[in-house]
Amino acid sequence: MTARISDIDIEKAAGVLRAGGLVALPTETVYGLGANAEDAAAVARVFQVKGRPPTHPLIVHIGGAEHLGDWADDVPAAARLLAERFWPGPLTLVLRRGRRVPLEATGGLQTVALRVPDHPIALALLRTFGGGVAAPSANRFGSVSPTTADHVRAELGDAVNFVLDGGPCQVGVESTIVDVTGEAVSILRPGGVTREDLESVLRHPVVVPSTSRVRVPGQHPSHYAPRARVVLVEPEKVIAEAERAQELGDTVGVFLPPALADAPVKAHAVVSVPASVGAYARGLYGFLRELDQQGCDLIVASLPVEEGLGLAIANRLRRAAGPRPCEISSR
Ligand code: TXA
Ligand code: MG
Repeated sequence: MTARISDIDIEKAAGVLRAGGLVALPTETVYGLGANAEDAAAVARVFQVKGRPPTHPLIVHIGGAEHLGDWADDVPAAARLLAERFWPGPLTLVLRRGRRVPLEATGGLQTVALRVPDHPIALALLRTFGGGVAAPSANRFGSVSPTTADHVRAELGDAVNFVLDGGPCQVGVESTIVDVTGEAVSILRPGGVTREDLESVLRHPVVVPSTSRVRVPGQHPSHYAPRARVVLVEPEKVIAEAERAQELGDTVGVFLPPALADAPVKAHAVVSVPASVGAYARGLYGFLRELDQQGCDLIVASLPVEEGLGLAIANRLRRAAGPRPCEISSR
């Protein structure tokens, strides 16, 4: 446990959950907005605070793989294998819903998404609380996920009863969501556990649906989006595109690819993308927030190579660049 959080804080947070309140909790991926998963009214508050459609299911966080059978029915061997290998960790398993999980938490689905987060504070809270914690990312629906407690406070303020500050998240992008209810194991959302990791444990290929048609229910084409519009171009065209838009009057922020690290750019703000994909994932949402804060109205970026964690980063950037709700309804 970090120096900033004491056992008293954990007790207090568990008390808030028991009383039907909301707790923002750190995980290794992003901060979550947690409620007692078995309390339908508390779960309803999560949807309300996020502004999230009620059909968009939540992930239920549990304290360990040994509790799988309490929350899911008919757990297949592949799920047990993955849980054993990757929990605690950035992997979410979609399984048949156990009766303990109210339909409010699953958006009416007969499946449930379960995960054991790899963060000492989250695990201490789950242990002390004793139940499951339904927690989406602690941001308003569709916007950038928080990777620090300050991001949560800035975005949700008093709507959260208690914020546990566990420092910056170490993975930085959300968990990998894997559907193990069908014949084939498929990735619904790429994330902190890579496709390559999954395949090495399962010893067979996993299905990755194309990112343009994400299968996770309730997902909007635009998600993980900053206020600024996001435009994706080939890495070698990033500078030219940024300068063109800046000349045309946009306030442009640039994600400068590692290969162009020291190149001069005429733009309002520049983020140098880290050469290490792990550092890029850790920093991604912070960079998007930073460019918003600097007043950019356009962000020009390129996609990393789509392997390992690069698959998750590319997925988030594509969705950040997706059509916004107003653009869809005006079509
Ligand atoms: O890393 C993470 O997964 C973070 C931390 C807080 O654990 N949580 C997170 O939650 O990203 P959220 O709500 O922002 O995204 C959860 C995703 C949603 O896209 C939802 O559609 C999907 O999980 N999901 C939840 N239950 C599902 C189910 N039964 N079947 C398919 N997808 C499901
Ligand atoms: Mg989210």
